[in-house]
Amino acid sequence: MRHCILIIALTLFLKCNLIQTFNPSTLITGINPEDALLNFTGLARKYGHPAEIYHVETQDGYILELYHLPGTGRKPILLMHGFLDSSDTWILRGKDSLGISLADNGYDVWLGNTRGNRYSSSHISLDPQKNPEYWMYSIHELGYYDLPAIIDEVLLRTGAQSLTAIGHSQGNTIFYILGSTRPEYNAKINLLIALSPICFMHNTSPPVSTYLKLAPKLAKIARRMGIYDLLRYDGPENKFIRKICSQPIIGYAVCARLFIFPLIGFDPTELEYEFYEVLIHHLPAGTSWMNYEHFGQIGMSKRFARYDYGIKGNVIKYNSTIPPLYELSNVTMPIALLGGRNDPLSTLEDVDLLKDHLPNYVEYLVNPRLQFNHGDSVWGKNMKDYLFRYIYSTLEWYDIYP
Ligand SMILES: *[C@@H]1O[C@H](CO)[C@@H](O)[C@H](O)[C@H]1NC(C)=O
Ligand SMILES: *[C@@H]1O[C@H](CO)[C@@H](O)[C@H](O)[C@H]1NC(C)=O
Ligand SMILES: *[C@@H]1O[C@H](CO)[C@@H](O)[C@H](O)[C@H]1NC(C)=O
Repeated sequence: MRHCILIIALTLFLKCNLIQTFNPSTLITGINPEDALLNFTGLARKYGHPAEIYHVETQDGYILELYHLPGTGRKPILLMHGFLDSSDTWILRGKDSLGISLADNGYDVWLGNTRGNRYSSSHISLDPQKNPEYWMYSIHELGYYDLPAIIDEVLLRTGAQSLTAIGHSQGNTIFYILGSTRPEYNAKINLLIALSPICFMHNTSPPVSTYLKLAPKLAKIARRMGIYDLLRYDGPENKFIRKICSQPIIGYAVCARLFIFPLIGFDPTELEYEFYEVLIHHLPAGTSWMNYEHFGQIGMSKRFARYDYGIKGNVIKYNSTIPPLYELSNVTMPIALLGGRNDPLSTLEDVDLLKDHLPNYVEYLVNPRLQFNHGDSVWGKNMKDYLFRYIYSTLEWYDIYP
């Protein structure tokens, strides 16, 4: 059945493309079609908060783009996006998205972008198009280099002693890596709200577990072919995917129903066709193959550990045949966890396990909405009803006002 749909879709796609040249703006029929093609600064301006742009250099030479939606106060809130995503994710729903809502309420909002995505794709000496070394990073580097550089920039610019963070998916994983490998950063975070928490991926089932199991094999094939970047925003693979996925109706049937929902949980009322059309022009935003492979290693080895370079590589890198674990007992920042019952990537079993390993989790909420999936905490149509209330009450409980 799935294969039939796929073949029909591909045939129609190829046929369409023989008679029309691709022009995304003519295909988008959503409520806010222009949002598909606007970038972060365009969207932020449209929704009433012109963004300031900062460039942050990491210790290992990556240049990251950091956005600021200035608020009325000086208590910064930092939003960190997930895997293959970018800062756009926090403002794509306009007034109904968390980034804009926080800014509308006067909060001082900062939005980071990790290395390799569409906004953070430069380096002091490496060229991502020419130097494979640029893409030699896993989740480790995102937490160990990118996140502290972003945090220090925000604290420097605001003069604040600490900041509040909200991280979605991998956007909270990187805080566990930072807190365990550079414990001095725990004091710089007065609260982390972890949406769709990802740390252990030990209790996943197919198709998620299949994607995890395949990761090292696929990464090896990609390396042999000389491909190190994974779905770079303006890369050829991404352009191809975007072409297929933006075909009217068929695109949603193929990309959302066959690929996105099985991975993030089925919830078409919250990720409806009109918004999907906007979303697929912003996601995937690019990362490295090693980033994906590292998740596969964590899931398969059932160890939240550093990247596995193989026995020889590990001995050189870590003086150990297996990669060392991240010491979660060192993650002493206060953390509020929000899980969902319909989230195959962050299963509640895995969120429970994370909670048991964190010395300072302060709140653990399972979203009352039964269909709450992995994406509903950033893309859901009615987040303002089932998510924002929880976020604002947590902020107020911690005395975090603009
Ligand atoms: C965003 O879009 C604007 C207007 O099209 C453009 O001037 C700007 O360079 C873009 N920014 C990035 C980071 O691509
Ligand atoms: C983590 O904490 C342990 C003690 O609990 C300490 O020995 C270790 O050095 C810490 N790790 C780091 C990276 O500081
Ligand atoms: C490597 O580990 C062994 C024991 O596992 C230890 O004796 C040795 O000192 C370590 N070497 C370095 C360079 O840390």
